[in-house]
Amino acid sequence: MKGKNIIVGISGGIAAYKTPQFVRLLKKRGANVRVALTEGGSRFVSELSLATVSGEPVYRSIFPATDTRNTDFTSHISLGEWADAFVIAPATAHTLAKLAAGLCDDMLSTCFITLRPNKPVLIFPAMDGQMFLSPSVQRNIKTLADQGCHIINPESGELASGQCGLGRMPEPESILTALEYALQTTSQRSVLEGKLVVITAGPTREKIDGVRFISNYSSGKMGFALARAAVQRGANVTLITGPVHLATPAGIERIDVESAAEMHAAARSFFVDCDIFIGAAAVADYRPALSFDGKMKKDAEEMTITLIKNPDIIADFGKQKKHRQLAVGFALETESGLGFAQQKLIDKNLDLIAFNIFNRKTSGFEVDTNVLTLIARDGFTIELPLLTKDDAAGKLLDAIEKLLPQKQL
Ligand SMILES: Cc1cc2nc3c(=O)[nH]c(=O)nc-3n(C[C@H](O)[C@H](O)[C@H](O)COP(=O)(O)O)c2cc1C
Repeated sequence: MKGKNIIVGISGGIAAYKTPQFVRLLKKRGANVRVALTEGGSRFVSELSLATVSGEPVYRSIFPATDTRNTDFTSHISLGEWADAFVIAPATAHTLAKLAAGLCDDMLSTCFITLRPNKPVLIFPAMDGQMFLSPSVQRNIKTLADQGCHIINPESGELASGQCGLGRMPEPESILTALEYALQTTSQRSVLEGKLVVITAGPTREKIDGVRFISNYSSGKMGFALARAAVQRGANVTLITGPVHLATPAGIERIDVESAAEMHAAARSFFVDCDIFIGAAAVADYRPALSFDGKMKKDAEEMTITLIKNPDIIADFGKQKKHRQLAVGFALETESGLGFAQQKLIDKNLDLIAFNIFNRKTSGFEVDTNVLTLIARDGFTIELPLLTKDDAAGKLLDAIEKLLPQKQL
């Protein structure tokens, strides 16, 4: 980030209150920051705050001030030319429409037009969920994405308005991570861009009674790392997760579920439309045949819980998937079981399987690292070393990127 020239565009959304903090983070990393503030944006965050945190005058109108003695008459062009990247956070519905239409009546929209074509533009739409899903907003977003802008979808959660739902702008740290990644990979485009990637993560809980359940040690970290990596490569990511203690990565649609049956139902609704389905969740194989609403009493010396089989989500997808779709599974064993993973790949009609051996210190559940062996349908095998889950996710996506074009010919 050091020495990079970043324009931060701010339009008139309530999430603008977060952006001065993002400017501060950029400055701390050594970036040169100039802020382009719309008229609407100035209603939510003050020009003085932004000038103070950026250390630069704030850019608003393209027209010179009345006193033209010290005016730069080319700044409406030179600002866009100066930038290494342009981050628009928040981007209102109104600003999205202006950018998609190519209008340029203020500094923010003019910078967008004058930015050099190989420079990344990151757009963080933030608005009420209904507004975001409206056909007009979605059409404008699609236009901008087709132009090569990185659109980072809003998150679900508590909104600044006090309501709850889709529309929240990611936190400044997440915006910074997305920008760093975009700057690193500006010249490379991923085949995952615009693809719908559905990932399951975490454990499931199978209810015994109102206060007890059967589960496993899965933390969800591998699935969340995959979601982060996929969104950074431009994919549209839906993350279906069991109960975990992890923050939602920026720009991801997160669906929280509890049981295997709930995860299956959520996953099935994406079976037809997704391009890639990654089953990283540790779905419980069995559930109690009967469960009770209240708390069971401990009267008896012994207790037998009859378990019945849960649906096999990834196998169900494997059965239904079309040729263009890619299915990726995980196989966790406590000892060597490469042959088992290969068999699972065939039996479940997967395209790729990631095999890992559970080791409490280095790989499998809970820890931040993993040791994966990737086995593709054609027998191609890659043994990865001990990696962080983020790096392992990157390698897995590299393998998917190689397989996907053959599927979608
Ligand atoms: C209190 C308030 C909050 C608003 N929040 C948002 C928002 O979060 N997202 C959005 O797209 N528009 C929001 N708007 C509407 C925009 O401010 C309005 O469309 C404005 O014209 C945007 O102009 P700009 O995009 O040029 O900044 C809000 C308006 C008000 C009055």
